[in-house]
Amino acid sequence: MIDKYKEAFEKTRLAGTIAAGALDEVAKIAKPGISTAEIDKLCYNYLNDHGAYSAPLFYRGFPKSCCTSTNHVVCHGIPSEKILKDGDIVNVDVTALKDGWHGDTSRTFEIGEVSVKAKKLVISTYEAMMKAIKIVKDDIHLGDIGATIQDHVEADGFSVVQDFCGHGIGKSFHKEPNVLHYGKKGTGEKIKTGMIFTIEPMINLGKYETKTLNDGWTAVTKDKSLSAQFEHTIGVTKDGCEIFTLSKNQ
Ligand code: MF3
Ligand code: CO
Ligand code: CO
Repeated sequence: MIDKYKEAFEKTRLAGTIAAGALDEVAKIAKPGISTAEIDKLCYNYLNDHGAYSAPLFYRGFPKSCCTSTNHVVCHGIPSEKILKDGDIVNVDVTALKDGWHGDTSRTFEIGEVSVKAKKLVISTYEAMMKAIKIVKDDIHLGDIGATIQDHVEADGFSVVQDFCGHGIGKSFHKEPNVLHYGKKGTGEKIKTGMIFTIEPMINLGKYETKTLNDGWTAVTKDKSLSAQFEHTIGVTKDGCEIFTLSKNQ
């Protein structure tokens, strides 16, 4: 890695590893009977214990330390006293702010035994993210990422959410470029060595449309179908990319 990018990569790796560590702890308690508020508390404490802040907390008025998006919630679900039950899927999205740099990652957890179709949705979403990450390197187009995700999940009969996208990240939480999870190969901006951004596909079992509830945050599928999401923060290199939000359990 060229010296120019060294600090950004090192700092993002540090923040990303903390965010991933929080999700490893969430994985241990994500069982029927716990509330999403308990997950939030764990994330708050984990980040605090590791010398980091939660970037979502008070971000544009967001009231909690992580997002918990259950079943038909697409993203930005607000942790509450609601109890998770057998068969639910829940995405937990954690962003650590450490020494002024951000690391953003999410996973969808299965609560107890979930339906076959829920399992397929979760697997397809994860595979699509990883497939996209594997094609990332200097000089490819952003559209190559979107097309890879769209082709993968549509072949499985699922749809790509269009109202939310991945994003550049660094000293700011959300910055350019927008990383769409659908599109055409060879279109859009070219990505370059040193760029740091997220890939975070939200994939629906039914139609792709979403709407936002009256709390101003919670985005749900319009047709109430299940939605899954995974997210990694990555840094582009000459021949590939580095995933900053990996954990030992993935
Ligand atoms: N972590 C989310 C993302 O992937 C953003 C959450 S913003 C919040 O970009 F305010 F809703 F927390
Ligand atoms: Co993000
Ligand atoms: Co996120």
